[in-house]
Amino acid sequence: MSKKYLLIVVLALPYLFLLCSPENEKEGGKMDSSKIIKLPEPVNESDVSVEEALKNRRSIRSYQDKELKLEHLSQILWSSYGITKSMESGPDFLRGGLRTAPSAGARYPLEIYAVCGNVSDLAAGIYKYDSKEHTLKLLQSGDQRSELSEAAYGQSFIAKAPASLFYSAVYERTTSKYGQRGRERYVCMDLGHSAENVYLQAYSLGIGTCAVGAFSDQDVSKVMQIPEQETPLYIMPLGYIESQK
Ligand SMILES: Cc1cc2nc3c(=O)[nH]c(=O)nc-3n(C[C@H](O)[C@H](O)[C@H](O)COP(=O)(O)O)c2cc1C
Repeated sequence: MSKKYLLIVVLALPYLFLLCSPENEKEGGKMDSSKIIKLPEPVNESDVSVEEALKNRRSIRSYQDKELKLEHLSQILWSSYGITKSMESGPDFLRGGLRTAPSAGARYPLEIYAVCGNVSDLAAGIYKYDSKEHTLKLLQSGDQRSELSEAAYGQSFIAKAPASLFYSAVYERTTSKYGQRGRERYVCMDLGHSAENVYLQAYSLGIGTCAVGAFSDQDVSKVMQIPEQETPLYIMPLGYIESQK
């Protein structure tokens, strides 16, 4: 091979690597840990009324064996903690603005992750939701649904769901203002507001979910690799409701 061709091949290598990387990602290969996924814009209208969702919502533990649409995951993430009133110049603790769910003192202690195994246009992996940017950031590549299910005492519907939301909380954000009352009441009240949004939004999209609070804190924290200051709170599997086959 002449020097000229050798140079072309060497220069093209990084581009070839980029072209090949989506396949690697799907198979749980190495991936740039700073990868950010811009989520589809949430919509603000639906054919399903709030009343209908309230009446029919149930905890669903069985799902169609079907890929979850990224636009649906995006919509559910937005419903959980999306910014609905941007406040760029507000105090730091707002981290972007007011959200779909109320929060004591607007401290927003929750952190929301997506554990994805079968989501359209998204490699299997664990992602963190950024409310301000409405993006997902890849933290770990590879399918971790079985590990998460095991950490939840083998609740098998977690492994079967195409994806799960995972909630943790940084209690300090709330207790720094409200002390013990924040610890004993407000953080979990905040969680309930957000999780109910997920139940209602999921229902309106034909998706079932179930709030799961029974798991080993230690095992779940290990699977999720959450920082020490975060307390795991809920797993919410997501999958299309079977009766709508
Ligand atoms: C704090 C909390 C923890 C829960 N943990 C679990 C759980 O670990 N596994 C499960 O299958 N359901 C769990 N659930 C769902 C409840 O079993 C369910 O909400 C209840 O049976 C009422 O049914 P419904 O939600 O369909 O109205 C939990 C619900 C709450 C509010």
